[in-house]
Amino acid sequence: MTIDIFLVLLNGKENDKNTIMRRRILTLMGCVLAIVSISAFTTFEKQEDPRPTNLKVLPKNISSEELEGTMKAFNAALGVKCGHCHAPGEKGLDFASDANPNKQVAREMMKMTTKINKKYFKNHEKDGVLLQIGCGTCHNGQAEPQMHTISR
Ligand code: HEC
Ligand code: HEC
Repeated sequence: MTIDIFLVLLNGKENDKNTIMRRRILTLMGCVLAIVSISAFTTFEKQEDPRPTNLKVLPKNISSEELEGTMKAFNAALGVKCGHCHAPGEKGLDFASDANPNKQVAREMMKMTTKINKKYFKNHEKDGVLLQIGCGTCHNGQAEPQMHTISR
């Protein structure tokens, strides 16, 4: 079949039937090529950049680099690995899952940190640079910062 098509394409005599046939085959091949390249492109996109599906605090359009940077900063500030906040999935960690309660605590901590900065460090500058608190300000490499017991 394929060989027949190519024989028609290469050796076909210049009569009407063959010309029409060749045009049809060329159009068909064009369509197939277009579909193949579109699907190849989509697969490539998916592998390159899996978009987050469950962001509730971070901006939904955050870049992969920024998200990765934020997560690595959490690891460093708390002295933990990704699994401290992310539940295991079928293959490695399931980052979108909320099954690990520490993930929700972390969301609240993010909101708290933003609030403290807005309220108390809005214009806190040094040498023209804005200074803000972060997770590490309290955690300083500890998963659980020191707390004080107060009897009620
Ligand atoms: C201190 C807790 C904490 C640690 C440690 C942590 N994460 Fe996260 N991660 C979160 C929270 C909270 C969210 C959701 C943020 C939101 O709702 O905006 C999140 C979201 C994500 C998402 C997006 C998932 C989706 O589809 O919505 C990815 C991917 C991710 N984390 C990867 C990582 C990786 C990789 C590491 C280790 C380098 C890591 N995280 C370490 C708390 C953590
Ligand atoms: C103002 C101080 C402060 C800041 C800022 C702060 N945390 Fe916390 N965090 C705490 C305290 C205090 C605890 C409770 C420790 C305990 O229960 O013993 C805690 C607990 C947590 C826990 C639960 C840990 C566990 O094992 O129970 C997570 C997760 C967490 N913080 C993540 C974060 C992240 C992520 C940030 C930055 C977005 C952050 N925290 C910023 C003070 C802070």
